[in-house]
Amino acid sequence: MVTAVVTFLAVALASLRILRTSSSKKMKPLPPGSFGLPLVGQTLSLLRALHANAGEAWLTRWVAAYGPVTRLSFFGCPTAMLAGASGNKFIFSSAALTPKATASMSRMVGRRTIRDVSGDEHRRVRAMMAQFLRPDACRRHVAAMDAEVRRHLDGGQWHGKATVAVMPAMKDLTFDVMCTALFRLGRDGKSEAVRRELSTEFQQLVKGISVIPMDLPFTSFRKCLAASRRGRRAVAGIIQERRVKLETGQSSAADDVVTHMIAEGLPDEEIIDNVMFLMIAAHDTTAALLTFLIRYLDTNREAYDKVVHEQEEIARCKEPDEPLSWEDLSKMRYTWAAALETLRLVPPVFSILRKATADIEFGGYHIPKGWQVIQPMSTTQWDAAIFPEPGRFVPERFEDTSATPPFCFIPFGGGPRVCPGNEFARVETLVTMHYIVTRFKWKLAPGCDGSYARFPMPYPSQGLLIDIEPR
Ligand code: HEM
Repeated sequence: MVTAVVTFLAVALASLRILRTSSSKKMKPLPPGSFGLPLVGQTLSLLRALHANAGEAWLTRWVAAYGPVTRLSFFGCPTAMLAGASGNKFIFSSAALTPKATASMSRMVGRRTIRDVSGDEHRRVRAMMAQFLRPDACRRHVAAMDAEVRRHLDGGQWHGKATVAVMPAMKDLTFDVMCTALFRLGRDGKSEAVRRELSTEFQQLVKGISVIPMDLPFTSFRKCLAASRRGRRAVAGIIQERRVKLETGQSSAADDVVTHMIAEGLPDEEIIDNVMFLMIAAHDTTAALLTFLIRYLDTNREAYDKVVHEQEEIARCKEPDEPLSWEDLSKMRYTWAAALETLRLVPPVFSILRKATADIEFGGYHIPKGWQVIQPMSTTQWDAAIFPEPGRFVPERFEDTSATPPFCFIPFGGGPRVCPGNEFARVETLVTMHYIVTRFKWKLAPGCDGSYARFPMPYPSQGLLIDIEPR
């Protein structure tokens, strides 16, 4: 009898434990939302909204309907979308989320970039790039950037022109700044030819990043793939030339990022992938920032006058041909606040994209392994509770950046993957704005309304046409 009672109690206790364990392990529900139509999901609807510059409104409606953690289907992938500061914090800190490149991006740039590696490998490649992007390195880039910016503005694209298409001009400028400062491409005949070849191929291949990767005859994607192959060959040529120089003692690892990667023993294929990635990351984003800053200053005269005043004060203390110094840049506080406000309103990178490498839980929901996780920047940067009157251009918001709540303003990302080029972008933006503001006056050209679309990088209609005159 006693044995029977003990056995009964033991079985009852064990069942209770199993029940308790299984209920505590009970899976949380999937986030609310909808996967939409099979395969298509919300892809076309969101892309259409982005192309019509209504992406923010689309997201606002979605979040209002389903909440801050939702599910949807994007490019055929089940996707969790996180909105809000806690989502931002989570995405930048979770070890179970890794960066995800779109299929088109991987085909254009390569599969072994800094974005595709993690852990020690990631830290190693990042450290190699940081040698040339840290504030002390950027300080050394000021003179080269100054010369390159003047070359562009005093040359045929601006000087003597009545109308300028800003975005194409800024892409050319930032491409050259990057070639000079990061890759140390010279201006002799051979280097000039390599520069122009790279520029042509990159203009073509970046278009391939935002299209559906269908490699069929006569498609724009196939043309972009061909440009990518030619671009890779040109980069391979640079590596070969730099290796000979390094081995014959004509250069050192400190000279430029390519020589540094060779000296560190990174395989050539990885150097090519990383150079391809850097070339895109370094020039398109900053070109977008400069273009939209010029656009916002045109329509906000008070901010424009303050920027002009700040830059003229600096110019007044210099000889006519004296280049800008690091100390001059530290005086450009209002101009940088205007640039930050531009990044809030039109972040060049629309959304952070990650992939879940394990099942995760966030905000009371289950996000299964393999899902992609996106976090559009506008969900905090356009939130009226964080940035009152979010549609207004108010650089004063960023005169004291410590007043911005954490994880709400994230144009450069955050956490271990935060953009390592943010200081480079700051210096380049300030040098460029100094010379534009002190050399020219501008206004939108008749017929140019300043509207823009996203592909997903923001691109103004007509490239943002402005009429300019010398100051
Ligand atoms: C206004 C200009 C720029 C903006 C808005 C910007 C934005 C971003 C963002 C949001 C990320 C993080 C993406 C993520 O977490 O998934 C990123 C990463 C990165 N950016 Fe930038 N960027 C800019 C300029 C630059 C420049 C000038 C360079 C190089 C010279 C650069 C190099 C990189 C690299 C290498 C990464 C990858 C970092 C990693 O995965 O560890 N960026 N950028």
